[in-house]
Amino acid sequence: MDFRYSSIRKGILVAGGKGRRLAPLTNVLSKQLMPVYDKPMIYYPITNLMLCGIKEILVVSDSMNMNLFKNLLGDGNQWGMKICYKIQKKPDGVANAISLGESFIDKSNVAVALGDNIFHGNDFVNLLRSADSISKGSTVLAYPVRDPKEYGVVKFDNSGNVIDIEEKPELPSSQYAITGIYFYDNTVFKRIKELEISSRGEMEVTDLNRKYLNDKLLNVKIMGRGMAWLDTGTINSLQEASFYVKTLEHRQGLKIGCPEEVAWRQGWIDDLQLEKLADSLSNSGYGKYLLKLLRTKYTR
Ligand code: DAU
Repeated sequence: MDFRYSSIRKGILVAGGKGRRLAPLTNVLSKQLMPVYDKPMIYYPITNLMLCGIKEILVVSDSMNMNLFKNLLGDGNQWGMKICYKIQKKPDGVANAISLGESFIDKSNVAVALGDNIFHGNDFVNLLRSADSISKGSTVLAYPVRDPKEYGVVKFDNSGNVIDIEEKPELPSSQYAITGIYFYDNTVFKRIKELEISSRGEMEVTDLNRKYLNDKLLNVKIMGRGMAWLDTGTINSLQEASFYVKTLEHRQGLKIGCPEEVAWRQGWIDDLQLEKLADSLSNSGYGKYLLKLLRTKYTR
């Protein structure tokens, strides 16, 4: 079977998991709902999917937090989108979370965003769109980090070809970590069914990516050093991500990860709809920012 689409039309936002490294903060609240400076963490990955032109998104999370996600994101109509939800009963791994989207995705290709990954950079949107335009196999993004041990790490041969991806290796063979945004063709669900549970008891996204690699269908795009990929897994990295967003937003007067703005700029909502959204938030700097967008729309 050959699945060819000009571009991916549906996305999965993986927002469950244990969040143990942030306990006790995560004892009663999902990590992906925590603030990263001025907005909930999940706004950043959802905005990335929107920037790929994806209007239909499935949010996968645990039963304890599901209603909070629903309260925050609704059915997506306010942003000209469709947002659906699926409970992952146990944190059985990222690949398991993706598998729960099979009927939602149906015959489409799929973009998967981890709910705790934050990206930023001038060329990032172009990179996303070029990754999204590849219709066959899988495309993942790799980013150089000082200490890659906590991630999926790319192994290259002497000619620079990717020969493996290793999950959290003790001795990483390169600096390049696989980031938390993945593009898959529709064979992803068949491949997940073939996965075995890893030694840490999960269905690993790295094992899934390795399946594509073994079939010569994995495309690894390297992110340039002018782009930022930020971690939010520990208290320190969460704070650093907040400072990063604060510094840029304060300097530029432009927001990072603002779904209302992206929906409006993509033409999914009109001025009137944006104004309504802004009015409901008008006591906050966030709401004032949305109003300012409308006032300055012809001057940028
Ligand atoms: O951030 C990129 C890294 O994400 C990759 O480099 C790794 O290859 C990949 O395995 C993953 O590693 P993490 O250790 O960061 O995964 P974590 O368990 O933190 O889960 C990532 C996201 O997926 C997070 O938002 C929680 C969510 N999740 C996780 C699990 C295990 C679920 O929704 N369900 C789950 O069962």
